[in-house]
Amino acid sequence: MRISFLLLLLPAANSGHLPPRSTMQPCKTLLFFFHDILYNGNNFHNATSAIVAAPAWGNRTKLAPLMHFGDVVVFDDPMTLDGDLRSPVIGRAQGLYLYDRKEVFTAWLAFSLVLNSTDHRGTITLAGADMLMNRRRDVPVVGGTGDFFMARGVATLMTDAIEDEVYFRLRVDLKLYECY
Ligand SMILES: *[C@@H]1O[C@H](CO)[C@@H](O)[C@H](O)[C@H]1NC(C)=O
Ligand SMILES: *[C@@H]1O[C@H](CO)[C@@H](O)[C@H](O)[C@H]1NC(C)=O
Ligand SMILES: *[C@@H]1O[C@H](CO)[C@@H](O)[C@H](O)[C@H]1NC(C)=O
Repeated sequence: MRISFLLLLLPAANSGHLPPRSTMQPCKTLLFFFHDILYNGNNFHNATSAIVAAPAWGNRTKLAPLMHFGDVVVFDDPMTLDGDLRSPVIGRAQGLYLYDRKEVFTAWLAFSLVLNSTDHRGTITLAGADMLMNRRRDVPVVGGTGDFFMARGVATLMTDAIEDEVYFRLRVDLKLYECY
């Protein structure tokens, strides 16, 4: 079953417009870090994200048991060029993540990198599954505006630091394969 399915797919893949994936080179690469401080009931002034929906067995000040399944978090996180939270903020990562499996730690992301510096002006939108147990996770870049007009590619995410359930730092390696 699986083999015949593959055979059916192969001719279609070869007649497409894209070169084989292994030979594709990104037209733009960017590296950012973003910093997420989750509201925990007593860090209102520092928090950059908040649980906005929780399952019946949880609440909005503490991530739920069972891999946080059902929690929805909205965030507005500062982005820096290195891993230091005190470095200049070059943009913000804005959107939401939600935890979507009880058995395994996974999330679904939908957010934009909003950049407004002298180097970059525009937005880059990411959406897709984030297999949190893997050290490196690829998330699709589904579009962009401004300097990133019609951007498409992949963002490789790595959790660079994590402190309890309140702070995490994410390294984002962006590779765009469509640039205009
Ligand atoms: C907010 O952040 C500052 C600087 O990192 C820290 O000194 C302070 O303790 C934090 N406040 C709260 C409520 O977490
Ligand atoms: C949320 O749940 C945690 C853990 O069950 C509990 O310690 C905390 O008091 C709860 N917070 C609220 C506001 O109910
Ligand atoms: C972007 O930066 C420019 C120049 O610093 C400023 O005038 C503009 O208001 C900023 N736009 C946003 C949406 O922050």
